[in-house]
Amino acid sequence: MTSRKILVTSALPYANGAIHLGHLVEYIQTDIWTRFQKMRDNECHYVCADDTHGTPIMLRAEKEGITPEALIARVHDEHTRDFAGFHVQFDNYYSTHSPETRFYSEDIFKKLKAAGLIEVRAIQQHYDPVKQMFLPDRFIKGECPKCGAKDQYGDSCEVCGAAYAPTELKNPYSAVSGAVPELRASDHYFFKLSDPRCQTFLRRWTQEGGHVPPEAANKLQEWLGAPGENKLTDWDISRDAPYFGFEIPDAPGKYFYVWLDAPIGYMGSFRKLCARTGLNFDDFWGKDSQAELYHFVGKDILYFHALFWPAELEHAGYRTPTKVLPHGFLTVDGAKMSKSRGTFITAESYLAVGLNPEWLRYYFAAKLNGSMEDIDLNLSDFVQRVNADLVGKFINIASRAAGFIAKKFDGKLMHAHIAETFRADLAGLMEAAEDIAGHYEERDYGRAVRRIMALADQVNQYVDKHQPWVLAKSADNDAQLHHVCSMLINAFRLLTLYLKPILPHLAKRAEEFLNVAPLKWSDAGHLLPPAHPINAYEHLMQRVDPKQIDALLAANRESLAPAPEQQSQQRHAQHQQQSEDKAQEAVPPVSIDDFGKIDLRIARIANAEQVEGADKLLKLSLDLGPLGTRQVFAGIKSAYDPATLVGRLTVMVANLAPRKMKFGMSEGMVLAASDAGGQTPGLFLLSPDDGAMPGMRVK
Ligand code: MSP
Ligand code: ZN
Repeated sequence: MTSRKILVTSALPYANGAIHLGHLVEYIQTDIWTRFQKMRDNECHYVCADDTHGTPIMLRAEKEGITPEALIARVHDEHTRDFAGFHVQFDNYYSTHSPETRFYSEDIFKKLKAAGLIEVRAIQQHYDPVKQMFLPDRFIKGECPKCGAKDQYGDSCEVCGAAYAPTELKNPYSAVSGAVPELRASDHYFFKLSDPRCQTFLRRWTQEGGHVPPEAANKLQEWLGAPGENKLTDWDISRDAPYFGFEIPDAPGKYFYVWLDAPIGYMGSFRKLCARTGLNFDDFWGKDSQAELYHFVGKDILYFHALFWPAELEHAGYRTPTKVLPHGFLTVDGAKMSKSRGTFITAESYLAVGLNPEWLRYYFAAKLNGSMEDIDLNLSDFVQRVNADLVGKFINIASRAAGFIAKKFDGKLMHAHIAETFRADLAGLMEAAEDIAGHYEERDYGRAVRRIMALADQVNQYVDKHQPWVLAKSADNDAQLHHVCSMLINAFRLLTLYLKPILPHLAKRAEEFLNVAPLKWSDAGHLLPPAHPINAYEHLMQRVDPKQIDALLAANRESLAPAPEQQSQQRHAQHQQQSEDKAQEAVPPVSIDDFGKIDLRIARIANAEQVEGADKLLKLSLDLGPLGTRQVFAGIKSAYDPATLVGRLTVMVANLAPRKMKFGMSEGMVLAASDAGGQTPGLFLLSPDDGAMPGMRVK
């Protein structure tokens, strides 16, 4: 088979935030695929970069009192460290703030302009007269035009879910300075996606040739509109100064919008790789390139990658992607990652509490199936599955056989050739190689893992049948013991090979133990030679200790004080003043006796449900242990999905006089923290430390 030429990318993470487990769904997924391709002897290159431009990064740097360049340099180090920590191995990890990305941004812009696909138009936009800058939608806040909720963003309401234009907000204010924004006209550059050439091209590209999976093709069809309909509008690709980005050639004060240069960062990063290694750029990006080009992306950015990006490439004379591969979002224990629950887990904290990165790689792999479905990290399932599969089924095979080989047989496998008996006794273990490869190729890692674990089960049955520890009791059985252990070492080698794209670090240590060269896919076609010497076995993987998971959640549970980043970005000068006044307003002192009148108790949320017709309330049923059950209506609907509350412990005021509410009696109150001025959105329900029991008094 001839070797394929493959270029692979993951989406470029923004340079103003930490890598979290959600990001890792993508980077681990891509890394598994590229490692697999390399094991198949394909020429495969994996590039990525930080996405460094735009208003949020500019403002973030300003707030920290540093230049954007200093900010992105620091974050680059953090991201590089986190990726390395999870064994995500890029061939080049770069930055969009690079001469290469600037070059291709200008180049593509000029070519689109020459093709008549760029147009300048004056548009009306919100302008902050104090900060003297135009405001992106996310930096305008105000009251929701639908439900009236305060402090909502300029694009959608987090309370009622309505979507709208920033111009529709009531009492809008700038989240940067608090000033009331004005509408001002300014010239913007547009990429003419409404041009019939783009329409015709995109209809064909998205529906033919398998460039996107069918479920994504349907979504794209909706965005494009029915045949004959032209739903795509021209795309605004410029922003006015002040902006951190690339200035547009011959357009002083106008910058490329971050999403224009971001995907071009794939080219920039690859160009840098070419400079380092002598690869030919045009072999991969030229119009007639025979190489394959794959973009792994989250479903939230499919729009950019399957519409804007191929249209740009096509009309600027470059090749278009072979496939855009969208994946779903990560949830933790069935819910969106949440800072208050501690499930917004950073890559750094995962490693810091001593969790093994390969456990997560394995768990994600077991759950990924190449579709756009969301994937859930269920923390108790994580512990159970890693311990049962990796330690219980896989690693144990090596540990059971290695000791006997070392002690009784001088560290060498048996002398005779065992190929025939191996195939007979461990039927299918070698023959599964192509099938498993097919699953990796299709990104159905879940299926690959199931197949590999079924093979491991078979090997464990072989162990149980032959019981090497029983054979070892009498020297008469030595020949048979040597045979069984040699079979097991060979089986372990094959399973390691099959799992290597997922567990690269473990595989490397296993290769040292097995005393073999780095395993490639073609090595599945043969066994270890007779009398092959192996090295002393050192334990290859520990079990997950559930205590580590508790530590992980505790490390990520946001303290009740607002994070500094939330403080300044979303601020309204006036509101800010008010909220600080309120928050700092001293409550008059009370005596300890007065405080003692309040009966605070630990409560278990036995049930939580929506209340028909109530905007803010959830109906909770609280278990107070020996004190019985209470019904409470709590104004926490905006912050909690009832399903995620059931079972958790919190603190309640148990002797509050019962109150008749529109929806029924409320017999107490649960305690939650919130920012008085509403600047830090959200409510944070209190939780006791482990060990507290329902009904316990809180003093
Ligand atoms: N900077 C843009 C991408 C530009 S690509 C030319 C961006 N950055 S991001 O940091 O927000 O996200 C990077 C990638 O991580 C995206 O593909 C995004 O979908 C993915 N994920 C971010 N959070 C995620 C989850 N919670 N779950 C799964 N993937 C997620 O978008
Ligand atoms: Zn609303």
